[in-house]
Amino acid sequence: MLKAADTTNLKSSELYQLVYISRITSTGLSGASTLNDIADHSIKNNQADKVTGILCYGNGYFFQCVEGTEQALTNLKNRLLMDNRHKEIKVLDFSVINQRRFSSWSLRSIILERWMVDDSRVKALMPFKPYTWVEDEWVQFLNVLQNYYEQQEKKEEVDMQPIKYKALGVTLGKVVSQHQAFFLIQTILGLLIVAALFWVLLSDKIF
Ligand SMILES: Cc1cc2nc3c(=O)[nH]c(=O)nc-3n(C[C@H](O)[C@H](O)[C@H](O)COP(=O)(O)O)c2cc1C
Repeated sequence: MLKAADTTNLKSSELYQLVYISRITSTGLSGASTLNDIADHSIKNNQADKVTGILCYGNGYFFQCVEGTEQALTNLKNRLLMDNRHKEIKVLDFSVINQRRFSSWSLRSIILERWMVDDSRVKALMPFKPYTWVEDEWVQFLNVLQNYYEQQEKKEEVDMQPIKYKALGVTLGKVVSQHQAFFLIQTILGLLIVAALFWVLLSDKIF
């Protein structure tokens, strides 16, 4: 299995985690593929800096946990603070850890939508509103994410790439199949409106 960062040359006391939440800005929302752009760029940077972690997005909010040296995370934090794709960064934790939770992921990005989540503990947190979490709720959330990571690792489905357009196609497929009746009614209504417009235009010319 491909390891994103080899931790053997790091003393455990040198390892830190940075956990924060933030809100997406209109700039972030206006980008066609903000999450992909962030993940693509971050994977390259994080591999170079031996940083690993996870980035969740849902309901207009980001949740990120990154692991690495204090220096690497401080530099990253400074870059994050200047990034206009998100705002109101609230640091939940910046502390020493014994080991990485996401040692094979340079940055795995996950979209949190109720219909995409199987885990009942995560479902309970939907719609995703991390600013309303109390005390250590973020720790529970992080534990669920770690659990998910471990399951993926067991299945050897460790995927370092962000969600790509192909996956987005599957995602859209899921939405469409879940809302087939809705889409069908919308299509019929659309066709009826077009037919009515034609009828009005033609009847104007005929009569
Ligand atoms: C929510 C969010 C998460 C991000 N996570 C990372 C990250 O893990 N690593 C990283 O290098 N940049 C991350 N970025 C991008 C940084 O804010 C910054 O744009 C980037 O590191 C600049 O890299 P550069 O100096 O190579 O241009 C993130 C941006 C956002 C909005």
